[in-house]
Amino acid sequence: MIIELVTKTRTVRRFREELPLSLETLRALVNLARLGGSARNAQALKYRIVTESVLRERIYPLLGWAGYLKDWKGPAVGERPPAIILCLLDCELLLGPESEVQFDLGIATQNLLLGAAAQEIFGCRIGSFSPKLHEVLDLDPQYKMLLVLALGYPAEQVVLEEVGADGDIRYWRDSQQVHHVPKRRLEDLLVTDLKEGRG
Ligand SMILES: Cc1cc2nc3c(=O)[nH]c(=O)nc-3n(C[C@H](O)[C@H](O)[C@H](O)COP(=O)(O)O)c2cc1C
Repeated sequence: MIIELVTKTRTVRRFREELPLSLETLRALVNLARLGGSARNAQALKYRIVTESVLRERIYPLLGWAGYLKDWKGPAVGERPPAIILCLLDCELLLGPESEVQFDLGIATQNLLLGAAAQEIFGCRIGSFSPKLHEVLDLDPQYKMLLVLALGYPAEQVVLEEVGADGDIRYWRDSQQVHHVPKRRLEDLLVTDLKEGRG
């Protein structure tokens, strides 16, 4: 059921670093990203798969993790992502304003993460990365780094909960290290027509 898969597709930030993802698996996930909708059908997103440990070691320090967890500096050795997919904009393929590509990016990465969750692989979108990433990867200037996807088998439990009366949307970790993600209630997202029924 789609509701189960969507609910299951949570952000995970601690991974089984010792369990690699095969190139075949990662290519199949990028293929799901490829099939997403695209403004003007420009399809200006490109992907760089990174699994080599030497390169991963250079990338890890450039990633910003879980800004709301002030006491946590990111995944420790042994729980870092065994695979990284860099989402790039190929500027030579851009047809409209760059802001449009952000929609494509959301669709593409959600396709990818849904497909990953369906096979017990989870990930984290990372928009908070150092600009040094571009040079570490020795990317051509035509590419612009938009988003980093960290992927792997999970080493943490994530649960959803309702946003409380205080309206706090910050995710948090309990004493058992379970990660809690507050989501607003459906009722609070449905905008009703206040004028309706006024007579
Ligand atoms: C565009 C985007 C950028 C994000 N950037 C980061 C990031 O830099 N670091 C991080 O730890 N999580 C990042 N996240 C993950 C969000 O924090 C996460 O989606 C949110 O806490 C809700 O959890 P959920 O994905 O399980 O619903 C990002 C998510 C999105 C959609």
